Amino acid sequence: MDNKPIIFNHPLIQHKLSLVRDKRTGSKEFRELISEIAMLMCYEATRDLSLEEVNVETPMGPAHTKVIAGRKLACVPVLRAGLGMVDGILNLIPAAKVGHIGIYRDHETHRPVEYYCKLPADIQERDVIVLDPMLATGGSAVDAIGMIKDKGVTSIKFMCIIAAPEGLRALVSNHPDVQIYCAALDERLDENKYIIPGLGDAGDRIFGTK
Ligand code: PRP
Ligand code: URA
Repeated sequence: MDNKPIIFNHPLIQHKLSLVRDKRTGSKEFRELISEIAMLMCYEATRDLSLEEVNVETPMGPAHTKVIAGRKLACVPVLRAGLGMVDGILNLIPAAKVGHIGIYRDHETHRPVEYYCKLPADIQERDVIVLDPMLATGGSAVDAIGMIKDKGVTSIKFMCIIAAPEGLRALVSNHPDVQIYCAALDERLDENKYIIPGLGDAGDRIFGTK
């Protein structure tokens, strides 16, 4: 697999991104947009799923066609904000299992703090998509993926809505085997390690906590 990060330039994604960035967008619409962007990204992130041939009977007779084969999927949102992307994935892959990893950034050090991990029992047999809307310093994503690899998982993709160059570099250098999907690559981090221009605090905007 070519693991160069994939940055989306699809018009639908760019349009929805402008709406989520807008500070006037309230929590209900923000949640809907994050879910819709995740669903559009999932279409691309599942492009390499393997297929197997099947025979079905259409009302007109037999058809030789294809269905998804092989390994099963799991998605793992990083709490809290990653939860906003889960529905978009499950809309397209309803059979995917869902694990949860709880990580928050310490406000002073900006380093990730792990507080929860519950993954499907058979996670090492699955292709895993890690979900988090924001890739800022990259600390949270690097740790979350490390926790999943510790369970024996070998096939991992990471999907975020907005990445900063610093986070992308950190993730690529720590986990070069992980294919990264970002809806947008922004300019930089500010002194508090927030993405500029970004969209603010994703968790607070999804859950209305500020
Ligand atoms: C946000 C975001 C990521 C992390 C990104 O979570 O959802 O998990 O920050 O920053 P990083 O790349 O510098 O690690 P936050 O710490 O705000 O937790 P929350 O979702 O529970 O609010
Ligand atoms: N977490 C967020 O929610 N937003 C940022 O810009 C950076 C980290």
